[in-house]
Amino acid sequence: MTIVPVALGDRSYDIRIEANLLERAGPALAHLANGRPMPIVTDQNLKPHLPVLQASLRAVGIASEALVLPAGEATKNWANLERVTDWLIALGVERSDHIIAFGGGVIGDLTGFAASILKRGCNFVQFPTTLLSQVDSSVGGKTAINSAAGKNLVGAFYQPALVLIDPALLDTLPRREVRAGYAEVVKYGLIDDFAFFEWCEANAGALLAGDPQAREHAIAHSVAAKARIVGQDERETTGKRALLNLGHTFGHALEAETGFSDKLLHGEGVAAGMALAYAYSARLGLCPTQDAERVAAHLRAVGLPDGLKAAGITASGATLVEHMLHDKKMAGGTLPFLLTRGIGQTFLDKTVDLADVTAFLDAQPR
Ligand code: GLY
Repeated sequence: MTIVPVALGDRSYDIRIEANLLERAGPALAHLANGRPMPIVTDQNLKPHLPVLQASLRAVGIASEALVLPAGEATKNWANLERVTDWLIALGVERSDHIIAFGGGVIGDLTGFAASILKRGCNFVQFPTTLLSQVDSSVGGKTAINSAAGKNLVGAFYQPALVLIDPALLDTLPRREVRAGYAEVVKYGLIDDFAFFEWCEANAGALLAGDPQAREHAIAHSVAAKARIVGQDERETTGKRALLNLGHTFGHALEAETGFSDKLLHGEGVAAGMALAYAYSARLGLCPTQDAERVAAHLRAVGLPDGLKAAGITASGATLVEHMLHDKKMAGGTLPFLLTRGIGQTFLDKTVDLADVTAFLDAQPR
């Protein structure tokens, strides 16, 4: 078992990582229950695991009704926000109660946002079940739904009271989804931790094959990195937390081009986006070419896209840059980019010339 603290003053909390924690969730949550029920919001994919969670809670005297929503990104909408909040109100949830978000990023984001507004804010626990949500979205308090104009445009910074991570839940996840989540693991090495990138190069194979030690180490290291960054810049105001968006501006354009669909999963877009951020930094003479090639080679080796061609993108540079202009990271008419001086040396640049990015993208193999 590993405990990683997130230090945020009176909003501090722990991340507890432990294989088969699902079966021990009751004892892990008992100190929060205070004799009250703990409602669970989850999705159809988690139905096989839900009875295990509820039995574990029942064993320590915690009642837990569940709302099972459809799986998928489309669930993160206004209608389901209303559905979740109405359901919680009908259950008689009080402000000091804890709601459990049991699922991937969609369930975590939606439930966290519902908790942030219900009765002006009640408590919630993140119990992420995908690699992507375990190493990224469940930690740090970003919660949101999508609006007609785009992804995550309506939301709040709202921290959970606890994060429970059971790496064994990944055993039943499709391999493609685990691989996509791995992009957010190696991201931490590429941001500011060369030694962790080297660890990833040596251990990604074991991790993706389900080796328990490699998996637990990767998750613990990733959430510790995220906790450190969020602890320094909770609301993404100083530029520090923005480092977590490495690969996301290029990736967002690729995801938009594929209609945010299963053609390109978010983690796959991030992988290709990180390779492009490194290649673009090399083109600008900021980053050694061999570093950009080494990053691309690693992504290829684990089966992740290393650029436009591998991501199946044929669109022009102008079309992709047009998608970027709809990114919510636009500020003051400019688009901040995460560039790099080498592996583990990412920095924020607000002066990138979009005409040059267009030319760079046009020159990429299709
Ligand atoms: N996923 C990026 C962040 O939490 O800031």
